[in-house]
Amino acid sequence: MVMPLFFIASDLKSAQHYQQILLERGVDINLCEVEQLNARFFRQHPELALCADEQGLWLCANGMKMQPDWKAEVPRLKRASLKSEMIARACQLGEAPQLIDATAGLGHDSLLMAHLGAHVTLLERHPILFTLLEDAHNQAKQDPFLSKIVERIQLIFSDSSDYLQACIQHHQQVNVIYLDPMFPQRDQHQNTIKKQAQVKKQMQLLHLLLPEHGEMDLGDSLLPLAQQVAQRVIVKRPRHAVFLNQQTPDHQWLGDACRFDAYFQLSM
Ligand SMILES: C[S@@+](CC[C@H](N)C(=O)[O-])C[C@H]1O[C@@H](n2cnc3c(N)ncnc32)[C@H](O)[C@@H]1O
Repeated sequence: MVMPLFFIASDLKSAQHYQQILLERGVDINLCEVEQLNARFFRQHPELALCADEQGLWLCANGMKMQPDWKAEVPRLKRASLKSEMIARACQLGEAPQLIDATAGLGHDSLLMAHLGAHVTLLERHPILFTLLEDAHNQAKQDPFLSKIVERIQLIFSDSSDYLQACIQHHQQVNVIYLDPMFPQRDQHQNTIKKQAQVKKQMQLLHLLLPEHGEMDLGDSLLPLAQQVAQRVIVKRPRHAVFLNQQTPDHQWLGDACRFDAYFQLSM
């Protein structure tokens, strides 16, 4: 994978730092020094790329740029409570569980779960997304509100299938595994592609980055592995989506746009 990384002269050191890290994770970076990184520049360079500035590493495409902005989540975190959040009931966050989030993405769900008490191991296999997450995690350590929360988040660069298989081999168990794989927005009954009225900018860029080899990995194979490692597996799905791995859940929590499907292991 070769990816352009745009930067202005004063951010050369930071750009080289990301180049080195990404190289170690298998991504070739083509460093491109530019005069300015402004809205006009991004409109004129719509191809998928990275950029580095004083706020860290960004993914950019189609005139937009994004990073997993954990600081922007602070107002939402401050409003959240164990009572008000469906995810808290689904994952029993009040019991401060050991939890693996096996599909990290931007880490927003994990940030909320850690805020509400979980000890989270966050797994992400995509090298660029992992590097963006690591940057968000490092920046959060400097923030007075977030620093306490991110003490409870550990990031691991790994394919979750490999990680969960290793857990099975070593008889390692956790309380909860949380899965939120990508979903191609198919209607559950008619199997047609639905128009997304309001896909957030971050998710649009995520979708551009992730289906690298054509077919999107829908994560079906993660469910049976997760069930061998946790007493409780929670799967986040769009409200009308088909069940992960076509497995009927033991319980569901339904929201307006999404739902949580729960799979319980009684015999662990
Ligand atoms: C829909 S996003 C998750 C969004 C996340 N819940 C959040 O709050 O930002 C799915 C993520 O899971 C990752 N993923 C999918 N399958 C994976 C696997 N087998 N191992 C590790 N990461 C995986 C993808 O790379 C993607 O970043």
